[in-house]
Amino acid sequence: SNISEEVTSSPPPGTKKQIPQSIIIGVRKGGTRALLEMLDIHPDVAAAATEITIEKTPGYFTSALAPERIRAMNSSIKLLLILRDPTERVISDYTQVYFNRLENHKPVQAIENLLVRNGALNTRYKAIQRSMYDIHMRNWLQHFSLEQIHIVDGNALIQDPLPELQKVERFLNLPPRIISSNFYFNQTKGFYCIRSDGRERCLHESKGRPHPTVNSTVLQQLRSYLHEHNRTFFRLVKRTFDWQ
Ligand code: A3P
Repeated sequence: SNISEEVTSSPPPGTKKQIPQSIIIGVRKGGTRALLEMLDIHPDVAAAATEITIEKTPGYFTSALAPERIRAMNSSIKLLLILRDPTERVISDYTQVYFNRLENHKPVQAIENLLVRNGALNTRYKAIQRSMYDIHMRNWLQHFSLEQIHIVDGNALIQDPLPELQKVERFLNLPPRIISSNFYFNQTKGFYCIRSDGRERCLHESKGRPHPTVNSTVLQQLRSYLHEHNRTFFRLVKRTFDWQ
């Protein structure tokens, strides 16, 4: 990938960047990098004339304006949304910010201090808001039909990537090319890594980091709050996920 986090497969040298036919719209910390890298295994998702161009912009899912703008750009675009357990996602989000702040020599806080204010769950905390999947989904469904949005189960992608990628191949109308030998479990990393074109690689060390242990009462508060949002989300997408 090139430029920022955003462009996936670069076009052949001397050709123009293509408008993406598909976008990974998020969710931040859902496994967007893993999904992109794993799709890149596919020979038609690469630098060739017939390729399909996929872009990844994890912030889109929770952006109020993105749905309308993307539809204006390409109304037939295929949207990929990777979601994981929203409670886990909050902790992953916190962990990323925590390490960014450490790197930039900024003060950090314990996660409980961000999650709870005066004994109540701090629902204004950005990481919690981003995990209210129903609210964001409702906004997307005002501009796109459900058929145009494929949801990848981010927890399933961690456990066993191939079936999730095969569903994406079908959604994108790609011939099935990704196979089980494209993945191997790396004990040290604790995640699946990629074997493709005779090379083996794992995602960057910032992907798949250990999370802090969260006070169990606080964790329970967070879970039960998000539970209601999850139920609404399941109704919206006519599908359930086994989030705790
Ligand atoms: P954690 O680092 O919190 O575990 P994103 O790329 O959207 O930022 O998502 C990062 C998350 O992708 C990681 O969050 C990790 O759980 C998940 N992930 C899924 N498959 C992975 C893989 N094969 N290797 C590393 N991380 C993976």
